[in-house]
Amino acid sequence: MHSHNGCVINESKYSALNNIIDLYKDKEGSLIQILHAAQNIYGCLPLDLQQIIAQKLDIPLSRVSGVISFYSFFSIQPRGLHTIRVCLGTACYVRGGKKIVEHLMKTLDVKPGETTADGKFTFEVARCIGACGLAPAIMIDDIVYKQMSPTKINELLSKF
Ligand code: FES
Repeated sequence: MHSHNGCVINESKYSALNNIIDLYKDKEGSLIQILHAAQNIYGCLPLDLQQIIAQKLDIPLSRVSGVISFYSFFSIQPRGLHTIRVCLGTACYVRGGKKIVEHLMKTLDVKPGETTADGKFTFEVARCIGACGLAPAIMIDDIVYKQMSPTKINELLSKF
């Protein structure tokens, strides 16, 4: 289950999208530019949006969705209010990062790359986030939390 808040497409926003498509349409690499701009406006790129873009550019929908699934910075689902990133860099991995990932998957009922059903958290794994000395580390939004354990994570999550 995925919440769809933050990804509502309304009329006024359509006109912004149309402007962007007109602006980039005939340029080299236009599809990626348009997808970037669209994701900035809407927060994500759901199917109905992909259809509009494909139609306006006169290209198959499969090409649009192919590009979206190829690049990890595009997302079809809306992002959560907060982003949790668990470090799986070498230091964190050997000191229990994997256990942290498993704990969060169970607690939040998500897989990496997914957003919780309540729209609160998007869960991702990351490479080294610069806290190797105090591994395992995680990040919530811009803040790094060090020496994590399942218990500490539960405490931390209850504050959000
Ligand atoms: S490996 Fe996790 S912070 Fe460096």
